[in-house]
Amino acid sequence: MVSKLALFASWCSLPSVCSALFFGDAIFDYVIVGGGTSGLAIAARLAEDSKVSVAVVEAGGYYEMESGFMSVIPGFAAAAGTGTSPLDSLMMIDWNFNTVPLKEGNGRRLRYARGKTLGGTSARNYMVYHRGTEGAFDQWADLTGDDSWSWDSVLPFFKKSCTVTPADMSKRQANASVSYNPGAFDNALNGPLQVTWPNYGSPFSTHVEIGLEKIGILPGADFNSGSLNGSSWASTSISPGDQARSSSQTSFLKRATTTTSIKVYTHSMVKKIVIDKTTTTATGVEIESGLVKFTLKARKEVVLSAGAFQSPQLLMVSGVGPKQTLQRYGIPVIKDLPGVGQNLWDHTIFGVVHRVGVETASNLIVHPLTGAVKALADYALKRTGPLTAPGFGVIGWEKIPQALRSNFSVNNLEALDEFPDDWPEVEYIGLDGILDGWHSALDQLLLDGQQYATIAAALVAPLSRGSVTITSSNIKTAPDIDLGYLTHPADREVAVAAVKRLRQTWAGMDISLGEYKPGVDVQSDEEILEFVRQTMVPVWHPAGTCSMGKSTDPNAVVDSHAKVIGVRNLRVVDASIFPTLPPGHPQSACYMIAEKIATDIQGGN
Ligand SMILES: Cc1cc2nc3c(=O)[nH]c(=O)nc-3n(C[C@H](O)[C@H](O)[C@H](O)COP(=O)(O)OP(=O)(O)OC[C@H]3O[C@@H](n4cnc5c(N)ncnc54)[C@H](O)[C@@H]3O)c2cc1C
Ligand SMILES: *[C@@H]1O[C@H](CO)[C@@H](O)[C@H](O)[C@H]1NC(C)=O
Ligand SMILES: *[C@@H]1O[C@H](CO)[C@@H](O)[C@H](O)[C@H]1NC(C)=O
Ligand SMILES: *[C@@H]1O[C@H](CO)[C@@H](O)[C@H](O)[C@H]1NC(C)=O
Repeated sequence: MVSKLALFASWCSLPSVCSALFFGDAIFDYVIVGGGTSGLAIAARLAEDSKVSVAVVEAGGYYEMESGFMSVIPGFAAAAGTGTSPLDSLMMIDWNFNTVPLKEGNGRRLRYARGKTLGGTSARNYMVYHRGTEGAFDQWADLTGDDSWSWDSVLPFFKKSCTVTPADMSKRQANASVSYNPGAFDNALNGPLQVTWPNYGSPFSTHVEIGLEKIGILPGADFNSGSLNGSSWASTSISPGDQARSSSQTSFLKRATTTTSIKVYTHSMVKKIVIDKTTTTATGVEIESGLVKFTLKARKEVVLSAGAFQSPQLLMVSGVGPKQTLQRYGIPVIKDLPGVGQNLWDHTIFGVVHRVGVETASNLIVHPLTGAVKALADYALKRTGPLTAPGFGVIGWEKIPQALRSNFSVNNLEALDEFPDDWPEVEYIGLDGILDGWHSALDQLLLDGQQYATIAAALVAPLSRGSVTITSSNIKTAPDIDLGYLTHPADREVAVAAVKRLRQTWAGMDISLGEYKPGVDVQSDEEILEFVRQTMVPVWHPAGTCSMGKSTDPNAVVDSHAKVIGVRNLRVVDASIFPTLPPGHPQSACYMIAEKIATDIQGGN
C-alpha cells in the first residue's frame, strides 16, 4: 500500500497528469492570481472568514521540494541561482528572466531572479526585513489622496503581518549584539511571518559598523520604526528555532492550510483574466496546467498578485493597458490605461571590494575544513554559524553629506529634493564576499588563498525609471524588462559620490589588506562612473508598474483600495501598486499592503 502510494505520488508530481486528475472548472468567491509574497498573505487573510471561498493559482510548486536546502538555509540564498549572467544556471523555481540591454550600463543584459514557486520571491530573497520611512509612506498618502496610507495608518498592518524574536546572544558573537525597538512589533497579534536575527554576527560586519561610524553613520539605529538613519544589524525573515527562511508559504499559507479551506492550484499558469466587455467586470481567470486548460470563476473578485513584472503583463494580455501597445499585438482594448507597465522603480547596487584580514565567506572555500565542513556541521547540529545568515549583517543609511553634495549640479540637487527629508539616498551593506558584477556564485572562487569582502552601496532614492512591455499577446512570452538604471543624471552623480563614501569607510577600518575592485588606479569621477556602469546589478526590488494614484492622475492604474481603474471586481495587490519604492528592502511593504487590502475587502471597501 505504502509503495503504491509512493508510486502514485511520484507519478502525480508530473504536473500535467496531476492537474488532469484534480483540476477542472470551478467557482470561488475570490481567485488570487500568484501565490507569492503578497498573494499568499492576502489569500490567507481572506480565507480566515469561513463564509468565503478562496483559491490561489500559482505557476510554480513547493520550493522546499523543487529546490531543497538551497532555498531554505539562509547562507545559501545568494548561491541559489541569483547571478546576473544570462549564462548562470536556470532554476526550476525561477522565471529566469533576462532584461533588455542597460542603456547606461554598457549594454549589459542581466539575468533577473524572480520566484516561480509558492512563496514567490519571498522564497528567493536575501531575507532582510525592515520598513521604509515615515516620510515615504506619508508621501504615499499624498500621492493617493488617501490618508490611510500615511505611516501612522500603515504601521498597524506592518505589525499585524509578523512576529519578532530577539537575537539569541548565547549563539551570536559577543561583539555582534543587536539593538532594536520592540515597540515596532506587536507579538500579541501573532503575525505569521517570523522576524529575527541570525545566530551569527558576521565578523566582517562588526568592522563595517566601526568604519561607518567613523564617517558619521552612527550604530544602534532601528529600522522598523519609520526612520532609516545610522547603522544596525538587519532584522531578517528567518524563523528563530530552525534558522530557516520564513517565506509567505511557510508562514501565511502553512497556517491557512491547517485552519481554513483555502484551495491552492500549483503548477498552474494564469493565461488571462476574463473580463466581460460590456460591463467591464472581471469574472474569472483562464488557466493552463501542463496539458490541461480550465477556468476558475470569481463570484466576488479576482486579485492579481503576480508581481511587478507579471501583474502588468497579465493586465495587458487581458486588454487593460496602453492602447497602442495592446493594438500592436492584436489584443482587444477593454480599458486604455497608459500607466500599466510604466513607472518601474528599482534599486541598483555596486561595491568596493578589499582583501581582508578577517574571516569572510571566502573562508568556506579557502579553508574547507574550518570553513565549509564546519559551517555545515554547525548548521546541521546546532543551527549556528555562517549558514544561518544570508551573507551579510550590518546595514547603514544616509543622504550624501554636504562635502560631496556641494559638487552636485543644481538641477540634480533640485531633482533629489522631491524625496522627503528622512528618505536616505544610499544604503551601505557589508557583504562577506565579492560583489563585482555578481555574475554567478562562481565569482567567489578566486582560489588565491585570500579572504575578500565588499562594502556595497545601493541607490535607494533613484530618479531613473524603467518599464515592462509585452512583446506578444501570449503570457508565456517574457516581457521586455527595461530597468533604466542611471538614466537620470542625478543617479550617476550620487553613484560616484557613494563610491567615494565606500572608500572613506574602508579607510577607517584596520582589517583591509588592500583594495581589489575597482582598484586604486580608478580615481577620476569618469573612471568611477565607468566602474559602476560595468558592475552595477539589481537589488531585485522592482515596483510601481501598476501604481496606485488619484483618479486625476492619468498614469494611475489602481485606486487607493488597489482596484483597477475602470474595471470592476479586479484588484492588484503586490509590489507593482507601490506609487514609489520606499527606501530599502520591500518585502515588509508587500506583506503590509496585503494585510491592508484584505481588511479593505472584509470591510466592504
Ligand atoms: C535575489 C533577491 C533578493 C532579494 N532580497 C530581498 C531582501 O533581502 N529583503 C526584501 O525585503 N526584499 C528582497 N527582495 C525583494 C522581495 O523579495 C520582493 O520585492 C517581493 O518578494 C515581491 O513580492 P510580490 O508579491 O510583489 O511578488 P512575488 O513574490 O514575486 O509573487 C508573484 C507570484 O506570482 C506568480 N505568477 C506570476 N505570473 C503568474 C501567472 N501568469 N500565473 C500564475 N502565477 C503567476 C509567481 O510565480 C510568484 O509566485 C529580493 C528579491 C530577490 C529576487
Ligand atoms: C569581533 O569578534 C570576531 C570574532 O568572533 C573577530 O573576528 C572580529 O575581528 C571582532 N570585531 C572587532 C571589531 O573587533
Ligand atoms: C567635484 O567634481 C569635479 C569634476 O567633476 C571632480 O574632479 C572633483 O573631484 C569633485 N570633488 C569632490 C569633492 O568630489
Ligand atoms: C540622522 O542622524 C544624525 C545624527 O543623529 C542627525 O544629525 C541627522 O539630522 C539625521 N538625519 C535625518 C535625515 O534624520
